[in-house]
Amino acid sequence: MNLADKFHGRNVLITGGLGFLGSNLAIKLVQYGANVTLLDSLIPQFGGNYFNISPVRQQVRINISDMRDPNSLDVLVQGQDYIFNLAGQVSHGDSMRDPQLDLGVNCVSTMNLVEACRKFNPEVRMLYTSTRQVYGRPQSLPVTEDHPTVPIDVNGINKLAAEYYHLLYHTTYGVRSTVLRLTNTFGPRQQIRSNRQGFCGIFIRLALEGKKISLFGGGTQVRDFNYVDDVVQALLVGITTDACMGRFYNLGSHKAYSLVQFVEILQKHCTFEIESMPFPDDKRIIDIGDYYGDFSRFSTATGWNPEIDLEEGIVRSLEFFRQHREVYWK
Ligand SMILES: NC(=O)c1ccc[n+]([C@@H]2O[C@H](COP(=O)([O-])OP(=O)(O)OC[C@H]3O[C@@H](n4cnc5c(N)ncnc54)[C@H](O)[C@@H]3O)[C@@H](O)[C@H]2O)c1
Repeated sequence: MNLADKFHGRNVLITGGLGFLGSNLAIKLVQYGANVTLLDSLIPQFGGNYFNISPVRQQVRINISDMRDPNSLDVLVQGQDYIFNLAGQVSHGDSMRDPQLDLGVNCVSTMNLVEACRKFNPEVRMLYTSTRQVYGRPQSLPVTEDHPTVPIDVNGINKLAAEYYHLLYHTTYGVRSTVLRLTNTFGPRQQIRSNRQGFCGIFIRLALEGKKISLFGGGTQVRDFNYVDDVVQALLVGITTDACMGRFYNLGSHKAYSLVQFVEILQKHCTFEIESMPFPDDKRIIDIGDYYGDFSRFSTATGWNPEIDLEEGIVRSLEFFRQHREVYWK
């Protein structure tokens, strides 16, 4: 059975469905003929907005509610075949400035979701999007799933706890879940107003505006990048692969790049200046240094491989945001 057939006519709930990843996933699921419900609280500083789902707005159900309150979840999980748990607080810096918000949005929300499934839909399959930040500063590269988890910010701790709520409910109650640890993901529909969703989005916006880009510590840090379409594909194959249930996996890319290299690719397509400056203190204390992950375990389980290289992803992103700058700049 191909991937589209696995979702055709099936009921799918996406938490955080108006955000960056949720909306790109929703568009693909509608193409596959799924009955899609999007749950989102539209917390203003996060990445959700209605424009994100404009291509499919008439073909999805939208529920605006906050998962920190369990009431709507108890109803929404019923009858779902698949639940993608994508709602979350993404910013590492914000998790240090407002740890209570991060705790509520990443942990309480997830606890409410798995509890609702245990009570009202234990047959569902779930996927949770975690982050490479759970590893903290890499002790060796590439980082495999066996690397110790030593988070260095509140967000990393809360995302790790949320992973384990999913995995505990899988093991203890048989509510099936898989966890993907995402790395730097970028592309259309990303929040690029601020640097809350990492440097990719804000660099793309500054490049399009022709404004100077500051590289902290010289920009020599190495990262791996995934274009959003590759991540959507990973979410779809992850949730439908039996072998993935009850396990966690890294995503990643075939090649790692320094931030300087990322910016140099942007400079091939936009005109702007670069400056190097020391890390501000609030960023230095949560900087993880170089990171790139080993995604071979997920690749072996599912056949997934990222297909869009960094430059192609950047070109597609620039094209999207050039067309829709009035929506994503404000
Ligand atoms: N984008 C990345 O590079 C990246 C990397 C690692 C992990 N992730 C994870 O992927 C998930 C999705 O990230 P994104 O980039 O799409 O972020 P996003 O901010 O664009 O989307 C998250 C959505 O969740 C919603 N939300 C947050 N709290 C909620 C709550 N309590 N109830 C209902 N809705 C709520 C927000 O309103 C927002 O629309 C997050 O869990 C994030 O931690 C993303």
